[in-house]
Amino acid sequence: PEAQVQPALLAGRHVIVTSGPTHEPIDPVRYIANRSSGAQGTAIAAALRDLGARVSFVTGPAQVPPPAGVEVIRVETALQMQEAVAAALPADAAVMAAAVADWRVAAAAERKMKKDGSGRPPELEMVENPDILAWLSHHAARPALVVGFAAETHDVIAHASAKRARKGCDWIVANDVSPATGIMGGTENAVTLIHADGAEEWPRLPKAEVAQRLALRIAEALA
Ligand code: CTP
Ligand code: CA
Repeated sequence: PEAQVQPALLAGRHVIVTSGPTHEPIDPVRYIANRSSGAQGTAIAAALRDLGARVSFVTGPAQVPPPAGVEVIRVETALQMQEAVAAALPADAAVMAAAVADWRVAAAAERKMKKDGSGRPPELEMVENPDILAWLSHHAARPALVVGFAAETHDVIAHASAKRARKGCDWIVANDVSPATGIMGGTENAVTLIHADGAEEWPRLPKAEVAQRLALRIAEALA
């Protein structure tokens, strides 16, 4: 089924895709992260590739392997992801599907932290990570089309529309990841595409089909 021949609507185009979680070290053996299999970002990179795009795939430590036929840039932390995106510019479009950890430990310990026997957990000082999507949306070399994601558990469209405005990206792919939907960690996704003119609810589809639709929309927008 993957071997369908598609028109090369994105030939000559360069698209950056971020995917997977980031891992923010606490010490050499512990980290903070968001839940993300990397499946949707991987499917998007594959769909863009199938339309002929050159894809820079910047991925954190994901559960699914990266697609063939794309340039894979493996990173661990949000700061590394931002550097990798910067190094991949310029691009015609960017799709930020990564579940970036919002905070990192201010100073990760160089040696494994040991329980001290007091029963009191350590106090970790946290600092906010850069918002890579917002930073790219305001970058001097901003891609013509910047697409973000918003995984929400409630008031999905309101939160996602506010995110689009706040971050300055063109589109937000919003999805409801509340446990009742079974979306989180599954093979299907039900998304709403939010742009300047409103919100389009797409049917619940396999992640590969969500990716193909999005890739086609990106091709249309860049045409
Ligand atoms: N994102 C990013 N860098 C970050 C945080 C988020 O690039 N430090 C991107 C994600 O890849 C996604 C979009 O921003 O495309 C929305 O992520 P989300 O976590 O939903 O947004 P936040 O602004 O972090 O809001 P929240 O408080 O809901 O986590
Ligand atoms: Ca977040």
